[in-house]
Amino acid sequence: MLDTPRQTEQLPYTPAVSRETAALYDKVKRVISELEWATHAPYILEINRLKKEMGAVVLAHNYMTPEIFHCVSDFAGDSLQLAQQAAKTEAQLIVQAGVHFMAETSKILSPEKTVLIPDMRAGCSLASSITGADVRLLRQKFPGVPIITYVNTSADVKAESDICCTSSNALAIVESFPGDTVLMIPDQYLARNIARQTKKKVLTWQGACEVHEKFTAADVAQFRKAWPGAVILAHPECPPEVCEASDFSGSTKAMSDYVGNNAPKKVVMITECSMSDNVSVNHPNTEFVRPCALCPHMKRITLPAILKSLQTRTTEVVVDAAVAVRAKEAVDRMLAVKI
Ligand code: 13P
Ligand code: SF4
Repeated sequence: MLDTPRQTEQLPYTPAVSRETAALYDKVKRVISELEWATHAPYILEINRLKKEMGAVVLAHNYMTPEIFHCVSDFAGDSLQLAQQAAKTEAQLIVQAGVHFMAETSKILSPEKTVLIPDMRAGCSLASSITGADVRLLRQKFPGVPIITYVNTSADVKAESDICCTSSNALAIVESFPGDTVLMIPDQYLARNIARQTKKKVLTWQGACEVHEKFTAADVAQFRKAWPGAVILAHPECPPEVCEASDFSGSTKAMSDYVGNNAPKKVVMITECSMSDNVSVNHPNTEFVRPCALCPHMKRITLPAILKSLQTRTTEVVVDAAVAVRAKEAVDRMLAVKI
């Protein structure tokens, strides 16, 4: 049998644990049942104690489950915000509650720090769709065309690129180049969604997010029929016809901000399941319809896995120094672009 982080022995839910975590439970009780809380609370308490003792921070993506997002993270946000945070945190130990490319980006930005990923198997279908060698071939095939690489890629791929982007800043990055053509890799759908908003020609790659590519325009029509009046928000990793049929399309931060700024009565978020849970905690007056699409990679990160990661300082993310220097240039160029 595999020795996975899930095998950590269940910690007991004692009256003291209940007392010490009561304020946190009050915050998340609308999305976590009392029964579930009994299993989460002892881990939350121990992770928060250990973090303090070790001077560690937990950086959590918006797709983490609510007990991670709201109860153990020091900072939570979209891919761009996590990269910005990794670049500026003073903590020497970062636990990345997200997928591998996010931990690698943190390591690239803070090479002197220790970056841990609680489960090395937390990958991404976009990151595994392209290699550094593929990017070198693209450069040969399209000489002089800027290569804009989504952060959902390996350090090798970033190192071969001119600049990175996230779904928050992709349009600004495309517009920051003077020519009339760019290559935006590896997400074909993000590239096509951005192409609808710019006069430039956007060439792309055949990658896709295995979670967002499953949504269809027919799904959107069905959501409109089933929940009349609901505002429909879609992530730009969805196929263009899904974004076109929706009321708004943007990164996970942009979707969360949309709810904060517009306080819709009813909302459908076409994205990963945990988003609605996390955003709903701070917006009790909005009803969230939850078309659930789980990212199996994000869901490998659990409280027991985070605790084990801290206890054993594993698994440390390592990036070849020469690759990291070149990858950092591409990420730094992205961070310098104002949006
Ligand atoms: P953002 O949080 O940057 O919108 O990215 C979504 C995503 O799929 C990350 O894996
Ligand atoms: Fe990758 Fe999609 Fe999962 Fe994000 S949601 S980590 S893009 S597979």
